[in-house]
Amino acid sequence: MCGIIGLTGSSDALRILREGLETLEYRGYDSAGIAIVDRDGSGITRHRSAEQGHAIADLGDPSLVWPVSPGAGIGHTRWATHGAPTHDNAHPHADCTGAISVVHNGIIENHRELAAALVAEGHSMSSATDTEVVAHLIEREHLRGLAPADAVRSAVRELRGDFALCIVLADEPDLLVAARRTSPLIIGTGPSVGYVASDIAALLPMTRELFTLGDDEVAEVRPNEIRVTDLEGGLVELSPLRVTWDVRAAQKGGYDDFMTKEIHEQPSAVAETLLGRFADDGTTDFEELGLTRSQLAAFHRVVFLACGSSYHAALSASLATEHFARVPASAEVASEFRYRGAVIGPETLVVVVSQSGESVDTLHAMREAKLQGATTVAVTNVVGSVMAREADAVLYTRAGPEIGVASTKCHLAQIALLEAFALHLAIARGVIDAASLTRAGAALIETPRLITRCLDKIEEYFSVAQRYADVNDFYFLGRRIGYPIALEGALKLKELAYVRAEAYPAGEMKHGPIALIEPGAIVVVVATRTTLWEKVMANVEEMRARGATIIAVAEEGDDETESLVDAVLSVPATMEFCSPIIDVVPLQCFAYAIARARGNDPDRPRNLAKVVTVE
Ligand code: M6R
Repeated sequence: MCGIIGLTGSSDALRILREGLETLEYRGYDSAGIAIVDRDGSGITRHRSAEQGHAIADLGDPSLVWPVSPGAGIGHTRWATHGAPTHDNAHPHADCTGAISVVHNGIIENHRELAAALVAEGHSMSSATDTEVVAHLIEREHLRGLAPADAVRSAVRELRGDFALCIVLADEPDLLVAARRTSPLIIGTGPSVGYVASDIAALLPMTRELFTLGDDEVAEVRPNEIRVTDLEGGLVELSPLRVTWDVRAAQKGGYDDFMTKEIHEQPSAVAETLLGRFADDGTTDFEELGLTRSQLAAFHRVVFLACGSSYHAALSASLATEHFARVPASAEVASEFRYRGAVIGPETLVVVVSQSGESVDTLHAMREAKLQGATTVAVTNVVGSVMAREADAVLYTRAGPEIGVASTKCHLAQIALLEAFALHLAIARGVIDAASLTRAGAALIETPRLITRCLDKIEEYFSVAQRYADVNDFYFLGRRIGYPIALEGALKLKELAYVRAEAYPAGEMKHGPIALIEPGAIVVVVATRTTLWEKVMANVEEMRARGATIIAVAEEGDDETESLVDAVLSVPATMEFCSPIIDVVPLQCFAYAIARARGNDPDRPRNLAKVVTVE
């Protein structure tokens, strides 16, 4: 949440900062702002906009005056936590004199007590944010005579919470100071230019010389020098970041929006993710885990931790893991796991699933699991992300950058990778025979082709969706492996179309929710030919009997299912445990079409940001 960019050493600072903010906009779009130091000594120029939909564009307004000789500059695109999305709450925030500007991602938990102390000392606050205290703390330390990095270090020592900060100071025009704890921050270098940003995508157009900044480290970035120190002032070596993504991967490439592009990239995202995982004899390759088969076989259980769509992928994975590897497996919402005093230990393999590798709930849940002695594996799409660095081992989904706020290609890639991993565990535990392994491996390898078959029907999916574009209440039902699919379909519809969509295990309806079903209710059911198809269709009958309209995700050519429902989103048949990789595709398209029909921007759903870095 919130995107940060900073640079020093460029005469084209405003353009680069604005373009960086456009790339980072998926992290939040409540407001935007830029501050640039004047090398000619007239201080810091700061402009901000909270105009929904064109805040970044506003910063390019030709009537705005910016330094002719720019020094260091910082920019911010906001997802509001503390304080409404107004101009005054937009970043960068300034100290009392306007000689220090700060951008921030995260939450300063003790901001109230810090603000009270600062106000008592005579500082005046001009926003309702938690961020502004940082500018005043640095001001106080700087006035005491501390050099900029020392002043930042001293301020950071007083902060509780998670944060990524980037700061410019009028009295050292070429200096950017950056610091972080938990929230992400990347450093980049170019010829006589230094950069700081929340993520790789914002820096790729300028440089591939990237480095990570560790927790509680402070970076001084100058045009020809980067110096990193810890909170005691000890020098820290920069850790380089190896990047495989190219610049075009983070652009729309001719599609109307990122979501459409990413939906169409799903076959290659899954294929790339599975590449090299299966040998011809069906055995699996997860060498990068650094865990031998006997080490894997020694775990007594597997716990998957994740949020949102990644949680739904984790739920599918837990079912596949129990089914194939015959080891107790469960999936938990990371934000709950962290605080529930879970009993785990060295006998547990904890797999955290996170597209970004940054979601703060999943990160803290992983840290909690590590504290309790569990071995942790991060499944993430972002090389060098915080989870990738902190977990005991990493498995990467190779889906390329996912910019659309609604997860699509990464969700499918996560399921594919985790199902392959379930087979790997099954081999390690000696509980799968060669024929079953070959069959399951072949089914997984076939999924990219089947996703393409779904995408060939995209217009059919859109036309079914159009018929229900005005409906405000949906129920999504599925059983066993169909339930995570139902959850994901409902989440897509909620976040994109802003309509109520409840997902239930179909058998659970009779235990209460069926009371809501009356003529006009729309039920979307996952009705592919899994082992529970008959039971699912019996549940469908119960809904129909009460007047519900039924839309079924059903297999191509399944006339029987088609005859029992009102509309069909057809998908090619696949092995039961691969069905989440296929059946989610029409539901993504269904939600997209309803969102578009309602005039919503699928790339910028209201109230959301791509990466949730605050609790
Ligand atoms: O980056 P993560 O996978 O950890 O993100 C988890 C969720 O925030 C994310 O999946 C969210 O639910 C998406 N908006 C779903 O489309």
